[in-house]
Amino acid sequence: MIDGIDVVIVVARARNGVIGREGDMPWRLSTDLKRFKALTMGKPLVMGRKTLETFPKLLPGRPHIVVTRNADYVREGVTVVGSLEAGLAEGVRQAKELGVDAVFVVGGGDIYRQALPVADRLHITHIDAAPEGDTTFPAISAEDWVTEEELAVPAGERDDHATVYTVYRRRA
Ligand SMILES: NC(=O)c1ccc[n+]([C@@H]2O[C@H](COP(=O)([O-])OP(=O)(O)OC[C@H]3O[C@@H](n4cnc5c(N)ncnc54)[C@H](OP(=O)(O)O)[C@@H]3O)[C@@H](O)[C@H]2O)c1
Repeated sequence: MIDGIDVVIVVARARNGVIGREGDMPWRLSTDLKRFKALTMGKPLVMGRKTLETFPKLLPGRPHIVVTRNADYVREGVTVVGSLEAGLAEGVRQAKELGVDAVFVVGGGDIYRQALPVADRLHITHIDAAPEGDTTFPAISAEDWVTEEELAVPAGERDDHATVYTVYRRRA
């Protein structure tokens, strides 16, 4: 928690830890995208520069804060920062301005790895598949995280796989 605002990671992870392949996600999960949209709507998103560039367009209704080491990076409609710490601080500032209680870290692998030690909550969509990929999210330890909520989601018409959606909170 930073200044009363929760730092929340949202990730979709396959059984083998894969979260991405060649700048994309190796699955189609429409149900999960809808849940992601509902969860994050109106709240600030912090992401790595590579993840931003995987989006065909900005996600509506959510401020985008993008982390890059490139001081010249400019992209219309996004706040650009030079470190994860600066990204979270900006996310916290914007969350307060918006009157919401969380900032969401939405990837990718590089940013998740750095944010995990400071995250308060994890929303992990566990995907029942083990595709090849080049980007991963670590396995989390039951010593550090307690399950708050768990929901089995069968594959819908526009989902490649069944998933289990789990919310974890860091143990006190
Ligand atoms: N399954 C999921 O839930 C999910 C979610 C999001 C993304 N993804 C996937 O993840 C993949 C992208 O992840 P990625 O690990 O390659 O990249 P990423 O984490 O999205 O972005 C990495 C970039 O962020 C910047 N960066 C990272 N740490 C920084 C720091 N401490 N200070 C300043 N800048 C920093 C650097 O940008 P510069 O190079 O510009 O300096 C770095 O190249 C894609 O395949 C995407 O589809 C999956």
